[in-house]
Amino acid sequence: MTQHVIPPDDDAQTPLAATTPDAALAARYGSQAFDVAARWNETIAALLDHRSVRAYLPLPLPSGTLDALIAAAQSAASSSNLQTWSVVAVEDAATKAKLAEYARGQKHIEEAPLFLVWLADLARLEEIGRRKGVPTDALAFLETLFVAIIDAALAAQNAVVALESFGLGSVYIGAIRNRPVEVAALLGLPPNVLAVFGLCVGYPDPSRPAEVKPRLPQRVVLHHERYDAALPQDAVDGYDRTLSEFQRGQNLPEIGWTAAALERVRGAQSLSGRDRIREALDKRGFGLR
Ligand SMILES: Cc1cc2nc3c(=O)[nH]c(=O)nc-3n(C[C@H](O)[C@H](O)[C@H](O)COP(=O)(O)O)c2cc1C
Repeated sequence: MTQHVIPPDDDAQTPLAATTPDAALAARYGSQAFDVAARWNETIAALLDHRSVRAYLPLPLPSGTLDALIAAAQSAASSSNLQTWSVVAVEDAATKAKLAEYARGQKHIEEAPLFLVWLADLARLEEIGRRKGVPTDALAFLETLFVAIIDAALAAQNAVVALESFGLGSVYIGAIRNRPVEVAALLGLPPNVLAVFGLCVGYPDPSRPAEVKPRLPQRVVLHHERYDAALPQDAVDGYDRTLSEFQRGQNLPEIGWTAAALERVRGAQSLSGRDRIREALDKRGFGLR
């Protein structure tokens, strides 16, 4: 995983993953003991070392990078091998600036040398059906849109794992769904193609480093055999404290997790325009059933 398939062009790489299981687990969970050390390897180390990067150096990506990322993305599983996703690689500064504007003015979109827009793409199969004279009515069901969105997400995450192995950083940009119709027009997306999220890709700026963000304790998310609805409040409270410490270290407001998460789901206004996604899908030709 940490093997460098593409030689880095300079010393702008992030350090490799935290080397000991204890250090990696402390970063990911705070002070918690899990039995991960017994199953430690370079892949686990790299996965646990993930962090979103929102500050990039103005360096181009080495040649072959995009090809390698897409090969990794296409190597992800795909529902029935339908491969109902596509991706637009954006390097043009003006297009990135416009996308940044559509996504709440997030500057890292402009800073990153590469912005990948991951698409749920039902147009390809529709076109293939048309060419063969075969109906493609199942494309109009919500299930098929699920398939395409899941496929796109799995593909993108494979690319993230690959780019992190090159010492690159990334951050997903769901905010492009704030303005799905405008994004579609800008990128020339045909009907039945939806931009699911973007992904900034570039060399992390070491002067503005990103840290590993702690996650909920495993006992909150892991259920054995059957779902346990007895949500352990002490674990959530503990996570609030852990995340507040992380926020303090980042000079961010120390609001923990609960308050921020609840704010994000408070109501339609919390969705920054994405409450109208259903309407946008209609406009984009996804006559969903
Ligand atoms: C689908 C998706 C959309 C996201 N959209 C944004 C975004 O628009 N802007 C942003 O700064 N981060 C975005 N993120 C990054 C998350 O905020 C980040 O993954 C989360 O806070 C956990 O931090 P970490 O990735 O550093 O572990 C998004 C992540 C995902 C998975």
